[in-house]
Amino acid sequence: MFITFEGMDGCGKSTQARLLAETLRAQWGAEKVVVTREPGGTEIGEQIRGVIHSLRNHNMAPLTEFLLYNAARAQIVAELIRPALAQNKIVLCDRYADSTLAYQGYGRQLDMDMVRAVIGYATGGLAPDVTFYLDVDIAEGLARRNQGHARGEELNRMDVQTRDFYERVRAGYVEMQRADPTRWIALDGARPIAQVQQEIRSHTAQRLRQAKV
Ligand code: TYD
Repeated sequence: MFITFEGMDGCGKSTQARLLAETLRAQWGAEKVVVTREPGGTEIGEQIRGVIHSLRNHNMAPLTEFLLYNAARAQIVAELIRPALAQNKIVLCDRYADSTLAYQGYGRQLDMDMVRAVIGYATGGLAPDVTFYLDVDIAEGLARRNQGHARGEELNRMDVQTRDFYERVRAGYVEMQRADPTRWIALDGARPIAQVQQEIRSHTAQRLRQAKV
């Protein structure tokens, strides 16, 4: 089972993915659960992440950025995600191809057919079974991110975009959910962490039962 987490910067999805992993590991054993993130998740992917996010690379062309995300993705799919799924593991991924559709497609306004085609090559057509979308409004997400930055978390190149950019990204996520309501599960991410986690847990349990895992 392949589960992804999506949302705007600061929506809390990384925390939720980590908490779900703890529960699933307690239930199924550590071996059965793989948690990873994009961009990154592999040694090569983490190097690519460094290039994409470096504030030194402020003049990176949108197409370069797009191809680098997909380069990292091709690696994580080949090296980690497909092998884990082939062993019937549960894979949790903090961001995946939908982030590219939202940020580079809707946000940067690259040609959508091209974006979909390249994602298709990078993933070999591998799509998640379930995608949790944590919804927070843009101002709340940016405020949380700034708090994180004040606590010493990295501020990356994607964190310094315009408000218009984030509006387009969010609208893109909404459109994707409308197009595929079975895969997407949207939750209000502004609520307490434990409450959101409770819902994620019960949706996951239900999907695992349906899939007869
Ligand atoms: P990260 O520090 O992992 O932040 P977050 O907790 O918000 O996921 O940074 C990931 C950033 O990269 C985030 O701003 C979204 C962006 N991104 C894209 O623009 N396209 C992509 O395909 C992916 C995977 C991420």
